[in-house]
Amino acid sequence: MLIFAHRGASGYQTENTLASMQAALDLGVEAVELDVHNVEGQLIVFHDRRLESKSTGNGLIKQKTLAELQHINIKGHPIPTLWQVLSLINGQCIVNIELKGDNTVAPMLAMYDDVISQLNFTPDQLLFSSFNHPYLAQLKQAKPHAYVAPLLGGIPLDLAKSVSDLKAYSLHIDLGFISQALIDDAHQRGAKVYVYTVDNPDDIRALQAIGVDGVFSNYPDRAKAAITTNEN
Ligand code: G3P
Ligand code: MG
Repeated sequence: MLIFAHRGASGYQTENTLASMQAALDLGVEAVELDVHNVEGQLIVFHDRRLESKSTGNGLIKQKTLAELQHINIKGHPIPTLWQVLSLINGQCIVNIELKGDNTVAPMLAMYDDVISQLNFTPDQLLFSSFNHPYLAQLKQAKPHAYVAPLLGGIPLDLAKSVSDLKAYSLHIDLGFISQALIDDAHQRGAKVYVYTVDNPDDIRALQAIGVDGVFSNYPDRAKAAITTNEN
């Protein structure tokens, strides 16, 4: 099972910050997940579309300027750019970049080649996911070898067909809507199945038993321990 540190090791450090990413690296994770928004053409790592519930700011993040974001913090931590986070990780683990905000494909494509050439990432260490499946199609069209992953918040009528449509590497499914038929269909289409967000060890073991390939967890060390215990 592949364990993604969800928003970094967000059970231990403030989510989607350099601190939560460093905490994930310190735990020796194989993968991290983060969320991005477009602010003045730059990708910024942050979860919500609005600033108020998770930061000292107010309003829609996409309407801010980069200068304004410099005066906003998340529990004392700066809001990082994607480039800052990727520079910190620098190829030490897989990074799942969730294209969360509007107009995130163009800025991602604009920096993609620099991430590969200037940082120590190989293309297969970058996994792009989104609930916005047309965004993934756009990204895949521009970068056919990029790994993409449709996010699902429920069970579609056509199950995992989106992975075939998108030539996706993996399917990312909400824990609340997991089904064996969906898992099996994704596997038959050649895609991995990763489930979010799973912190309970019994849940993780149950997912492993039905063939899930990985989970997103806020406590990646505990998730790892749960499956290691199971394997012994
Ligand atoms: O990418 C998995 C998961 O992060 C999707 O939901 O809301 O936590 O970004 P959310
Ligand atoms: Mg996310």
